[in-house]
Formats: sequence, structure tokens, C-alpha cells
Amino acid sequence: MRILFLTHGFNSLSQRLYAELTADGHELSVEFDIRDSVAEEAVALFAPEVVLAPFLKRAIPPSIWQRCLCLVVHPGIVGDRGPSALDWAIQEGEQEWGVTVLQANAEMDAGDVWASRTFPMRAAAKAGLYRREVTESALACVREALSRVVDWRLGRWRPTHLAEAGGRGRQRPPMRQRDRCIDWQRDDTATVLARLRAADGLPGVADALFGEPCHLFDAHPGPRDAGVEPGACIARRDGAILRATADGSVWIGHVRRQGAAQMLKLPATVAFAEQAAALPERPAALMRAADDYGELHYRESADGCVGFLAFDFYNGAMSTEQCRRLEAAIRRVAERPTRVLVLTGGLEFWSNGIHLSRIEAAESAADESWANINAMDDVCAAVIGLTDRLTVAALRGNAGAGGCFLALAADLIWAHPGVVLNPHYKNMGNLYGSEYWTYLLPRRMAAEPARRLVEGRLPVRAADAAVMGLIDGCFGRAGDDFAVQMRAQARQLAADPALPARLEAKRARRTADEAAKPLARYRDEELVRMHRNFYGFDPSYHVARYHFVHKTPQSWTPRHLARHRAPSGCRAGGMAA
Ligand code: COA
Repeated sequence: MRILFLTHGFNSLSQRLYAELTADGHELSVEFDIRDSVAEEAVALFAPEVVLAPFLKRAIPPSIWQRCLCLVVHPGIVGDRGPSALDWAIQEGEQEWGVTVLQANAEMDAGDVWASRTFPMRAAAKAGLYRREVTESALACVREALSRVVDWRLGRWRPTHLAEAGGRGRQRPPMRQRDRCIDWQRDDTATVLARLRAADGLPGVADALFGEPCHLFDAHPGPRDAGVEPGACIARRDGAILRATADGSVWIGHVRRQGAAQMLKLPATVAFAEQAAALPERPAALMRAADDYGELHYRESADGCVGFLAFDFYNGAMSTEQCRRLEAAIRRVAERPTRVLVLTGGLEFWSNGIHLSRIEAAESAADESWANINAMDDVCAAVIGLTDRLTVAALRGNAGAGGCFLALAADLIWAHPGVVLNPHYKNMGNLYGSEYWTYLLPRRMAAEPARRLVEGRLPVRAADAAVMGLIDGCFGRAGDDFAVQMRAQARQLAADPALPARLEAKRARRTADEAAKPLARYRDEELVRMHRNFYGFDPSYHVARYHFVHKTPQSWTPRHLARHRAPSGCRAGGMAA
């Protein structure tokens, strides 16, 4: 089927749907929802059988939905309407939520129901639920809806009118900051967490820290017995600030300060550097209780043969400091007598490479980019250098750009079918990239497919990545099931009698590779190109980064997505009936 994605941006859900529907054999093109006339032009050029709206912030114009079947993904249960669907569901403690695919009509979210799914809610931030539960349900709904298109055209099936669909959802207004506000004197930890999670990643909760207005993000439960006045700031850890609630405390990882030179979302201790420095540091031991907040976490299998190192950096972004801490952690866990080290990244993202917001906020973005990429390369080098044990990158969440190539530093890469990889740098202003990718990628793929991959700039499903050899295994169902299987497979690897021979071969290969071309030379060559990106005449990277971190609305759709606008892909034609 010819399907045009009409979307506000190519976000995680759009990427997953794009990759899955491509694999299903559909012919896809993408147009960003910039203005009605542009969308109309896209429909005329592509002549889609279906317009799919995975992520829209405004209604589809009648000029399109009256002439072409338009299916809209709404992140809410049947009957739910409004732009803050998930926000209300989280804040009001819904136990079960869902996704509905509706046919666009004159009223926003009020079209006929083509498909719906429900899922149990998880104690997670809105963006996390969106990337996992909503995305999985949306995929199932979209597949079901598409499977009905032919019958619908032939009059053999009809969607259900919203009024007849019988859902318990209802029209909700947009959630405003007054609905989100926290009463630190009265609200308990559960209430504070629900409010912060309902607002994360956007728009955050408008509040104040140290008497300064700011928006709060990235909340985690803290110790129960804070023993101080509710609302008081108690301590700092890994960029977060611990703040007392009425019955305990929460860690607040990120804030966006009002009135700051740049209104960027930054680690709380960076945004309030002076004030946070006066707070006692409460360092997190690498090995500690799983529910004790901290970015780095290490545990071992019961027999001590497998180590699992998690690095749960907010949004998968890795600043210079975070890279330094991760590198130190890798060196520490390398002292443990494990045979297999599994790098489990974060729950939401495995890694998204260097920290573009920290770079944007730095006095010299070029200098910070340089420091960050060097620190990132040091992390990669530390992983590549672990020749006395097998290393595995276990992707519980998506990985993009440098974060994807960091995974390639491990001997084996595993992911579950819900994972989407973006193994390319060019979307960020033609960034050349480092992380030893010029060494690591050819180890896995032949030159031509590798070139197509990095030039193509498209999201790749874990299943496809496994077929092309970019990763080694795609298994389990999303989330917990993958974690269970991944742990079992890691233990099997460690117990495998062939492991010593495997490690011997690994060392021999590293030695031979080093003799053929030292790792340092790969790094130097990549960094020469990166230096040009950061300090050269062409400002594309700085411009792209600025737009990315400030979320500048799209003003055009990149050609690699808008295939209907590519010269060869241009197909004149009217709209499908
Ligand atoms: N640095 C800082 N923030 C980052 C980041 C990075 N490298 N990668 C992602 N983020 C942030 C986004 O700004 C967004 O922030 P929000 O919480 O304020 O909404 C959040 O992470 C989620 O990112 P988003 O783009 O909405 O996620 P996605 O799943 O739709 O897309 C990517 C994933 C990886 C394609 C996209 O985030 C991306 O292109 N990231 C930049 C990768 C990169 O170029 N890194 C630098 C070169 S190594």
C-alpha cells in the first residue's frame, strides 16, 4: 500500500512505524505537517492510498481527509479526546491506558474507530510510556487498521462510530501548568512523582528551586525518611538534587531554568551549579539496591561470572562528565573476575551519543563538543580494550548516532524487536562521527551496505539490524522478557567451554587489527573530520544542534524521508479516492 506519513516530526513512534511498515512491504513517504498547502502538495505528488498521522499536533485539513483515507494515531483509550491524553492518564493514576486509531474527520480525535488496544500502565515518565507501551500498541492498531482498508473500500467492513464504540474515555482539556503544580508541603512522594512523570519529557512542571523559577523533569523516588522540612533540597547525586516531599523525597534529575541565557533542559546540579555545590554529595555505590537512584549501576550473576553494567543517562545523552564516570566504572568492573560483561545502557535509551544540550549550554560549544567526543571515544576504547572477557551490548532501549556505534565496541550486540537503531550521524548537520566507527562498522558489514546505512539516515529495526549483521541477536518480547533472556544467554556464554578459545581468538584479532592499523589512527582520522565539524567554516553542525535542542519547528521535510519529492520518486497524480 502507498502510505504517506503526515507527522509533526519523525519521532520515535513515527520511526518505529516507518521501519515496521516498510518491512511489511508498504511503500512509504513522509511529509512533516508544516502547513496545509504543503501537505496537500505531498498528497498530490505521492497519491497515497492512506495518509497515516502517527504524531500530529493539529487537525488534518478537510481538503485532505475528504478525499483520502486518513488514519490518526491517538495515544488514548477509545473515547478519549484531547492533546494531553497520556498526561491525564498518568497524573490520575489510570491502571490501564490505550491507543486508538481513528479516521480523521471534521472534529479532532472524534472520527470513527478503526482499531484500539489497551496496555497496563507502568510507573514511568510519559516519554518512556510513549516510546514503549504506546508505540507497541500503536503498531498493532495500525497493522490492524491497514488490514481492513480493502474491505472498507469494498463496503465489507466499516469502522465504529465513536458514539457507538463504548469506550470509557472522554474529552479532556489540554493539561495546563495549574493542573500540574506541586504543593511540596502537602504532596506525598507518589503524588509528586505522578505529576513530574506526567509532564516528562515535555513540558515539565513549573516550580521553583532555591527560590528561582524553573521547570522540573526526570524524577525518581528518593529515601523515605528525609527528616527535613518538605520542599527543602537535601543532597545531590549524579547531577540530580534530592528534595523532600511530605512523606519522603524525590530525586530531580533535570530542570529548565526560567530566564537563563538559554532555556535548556539541563542536569539540576548544572542549572543550579552554585546552589547545588553547597549541598552534601550523596554518592551512589556502583553495587547497590536496584531502587536506589543513580545513573550507573552494577550487579553480577549469582555465580559471579557475568557482570551487568547499566548506564541510565537521561535521554541517552552522554556528557563529558558522564562519559568520564562511565569510563571509570568500566575500569572498575574490569577488575572483577567476571568472564562476560554486559553493558545494559539505560532502560529508555541505550545511548544517543554526545550530550547536545550540555554542548549548547557551554561557553564554547566547539570546545565542549571536542571534550565530549574525546570522552566518548575513551569509553569506546575502554570497551574495545577489554580483551580478557567477552563484552555484550544489551539494548533495552533505542540507540542513535554515536550511541549506536558505542554498542559496536562490544563483541556482541543484542536487542529486542521493539528497539530502533539510528546508526548514522549525518542528520546532525553532516556530522562525520567518531566512536571508532570507521573501525567498528567494517568489522560487521561490507563497504557498500555500510555506506548505504550511514548515508541512508533511516531508522533500522533491531530485527533488520540482525539480518544485516549490524547486531548479533534480536530476541524476546519488548522489555522484561528480553532482560530475562539476555541474562540467561549471558550466563550461557560465560559457562560455555569454548569461551577460553573464543577469548583467545578475540585477543588475536585485536592484536592483528592493531598491527594492521592502530586504533589511535582510526581515532585521529575521525577526529580530524570532527574538528572540522566543530571548528571549521561550515557551521551546519552548530546550526543543526541549535535547532535540535531548541526544538525549532520543522520548516521542510528532509529529502531522504519525503521520497515523493525526490526527482526520481516524483509521481504526479491526483488524490486517491
Ligand atoms: N543530546 C541531548 N539530548 C538528546 C540527545 C543527545 N544526543 N538525543 C536525544 N536527546 C533528547 C531530545 O532532545 C529529547 O529531549 P526531550 O526530553 O526534551 O524531549 C529526548 O532526548 C528524546 O529525543 P527524541 O529526539 O524526541 O527521541 P526520538 O526517539 O524521537 O529520536 C534520535 C531518537 C536518536 C533519532 C534523536 O533523539 C536524535 O537524533 N538524537 C541526536 C543524536 C545525535 O546526533 N547525537 C550526537 C552525535 S553522536
